[in-house]
This record gives sequence, structure tokens and C-alpha cells, in this order.
Amino acid sequence: EESAPAGEMPTYIVGTEAQFPPFEIVDSKGNVVGFDVDLLNAIAEDQGFKVQYLDQDFAGLIPALQTGNIDIIASGMTITEEREGEVDFSEPYITAGLALAVPINNEEIQSVDDLKGKTVAVQTGSTGFMKAEELKEAGVIAKIKDFPHVNEAIEELKIGGADAMINDLPVTEAFIAAQPGVIKIVGEPLNSESYGFAVRTGNTELLQKINAGLENVKASGEYDELLTNLPKY
Ligand code: ARG
Repeated sequence: EESAPAGEMPTYIVGTEAQFPPFEIVDSKGNVVGFDVDLLNAIAEDQGFKVQYLDQDFAGLIPALQTGNIDIIASGMTITEEREGEVDFSEPYITAGLALAVPINNEEIQSVDDLKGKTVAVQTGSTGFMKAEELKEAGVIAKIKDFPHVNEAIEELKIGGADAMINDLPVTEAFIAAQPGVIKIVGEPLNSESYGFAVRTGNTELLQKINAGLENVKASGEYDELLTNLPKY
């Protein structure tokens, strides 16, 4: 086996589910863009590594990381206790939370309290899915319908196949901004969640680079710049 020439930058494969604006979305040229991508690119530049993005289903990201198919997850992934047992997370890089959305003409569901007996659409493997499972086990929600992509969950609301959707607030807002008059957000956010980049358990070398880069990108003001120049979906 040959070792890399001195000074050659390592390339890390980054897994993401890129139908999750404004965090990741495929642009008209077929490139993965968005806040997560901008931020990780800035971190990579600061730390002297290269990244290559791989668009895949969200539920497959942790398995892909564990088997070594990808090196980093950058996918609006919430840091949860359960996932901490499967991957190592960077320091949190943004705060979001779950929100409830319903079809635009629905006046019946105003909050989680009105979900008794209802069908709820979510993204497979997401924290929205986990919240829906909690509400189902508590005897509130009657049925969960899960989809690989958020836009498919929204589509299900549109055709009347589900009464409500639980999804990350900024993402639901981005979809509403892109396509007004279809769904609306109701009630207060269900919780507060922090997103982190994930690496394989024990990959401390890469984790330290990501954390150091994140700190530098924040200190330089680049982080704030990226946040104010979020891509329009
Ligand atoms: N924040 C939520 C979670 O961690 C949803 C993330 C979905 N991300 C995506 N790129 N589709 O479960």
C-alpha cells in the first residue's frame, strides 16, 4: 500500500439527504448546496481537507457511516442520546426544533392536543418520526405514515392521506415559502433540537478537525455570513 504524498489533502465522503432546504438541497446544476454544505465547506477549507457529497436516504446515513461508505454526516441531523450511541457528534452547529403542520384549510388541528385519532406524516428515521411514535404510544396519534423525503410527506397532506406533519420547523418554513397556500404551521414548536455533524464512533482525529474548524469559522464571522445568506429554495 502506498502512502499519500506529503501535503496531499485528504478527501472525506459526506452523506446527506439533500431535499431538506435550507440545510441541503440540489440546485439546478445538480450540485448539493445549502447551509450545512456551506458550513462544512468552510470548515474543510479552514482545516485543509476536501469533501465530496453523496445524496442518499436519511434513514441510511448512520448505517452508511458505520460501514465506512461515508466519513461524515451533514444532514440537519439532530444530536440525540440514542444516536450518540451509534455515532460521534461534533459540537452543535445550529438550533432548530420540530413543528406541526396541517393542510392550509384545516381549522380543527391547532396544536398537538388536537391529534387524537389522527394520521401524521413524517420523514423516515427523523426525530419527527420519533416524536410521532411517542405520541402514538401515548394513545394520541392513530397512525404514522413515513416517507423518505419531506416533500412526499407534504404531498400526503395535500391529497388528504394524512391530517398533519411533524418536521423540523425551518425546513417546513422553507417549503411553505417555496410553495405558499398548501400547508401551514400550527401551535408552538414541539421542542428544541441541536444539529451536529456526525463521524464514526472513535474517529476523534476527524471530529477534532470539524470542531476546531467550526470554532474558527464562527470566530471569523463567516458562520454569521452564511446564516444570513441562506439559499432560497
Ligand atoms: N433533524 C431531524 C433529525 O435529525 C431531521 C433531519 C432530516 N435531514 C435531512 N437532510 N433530511 O432527525
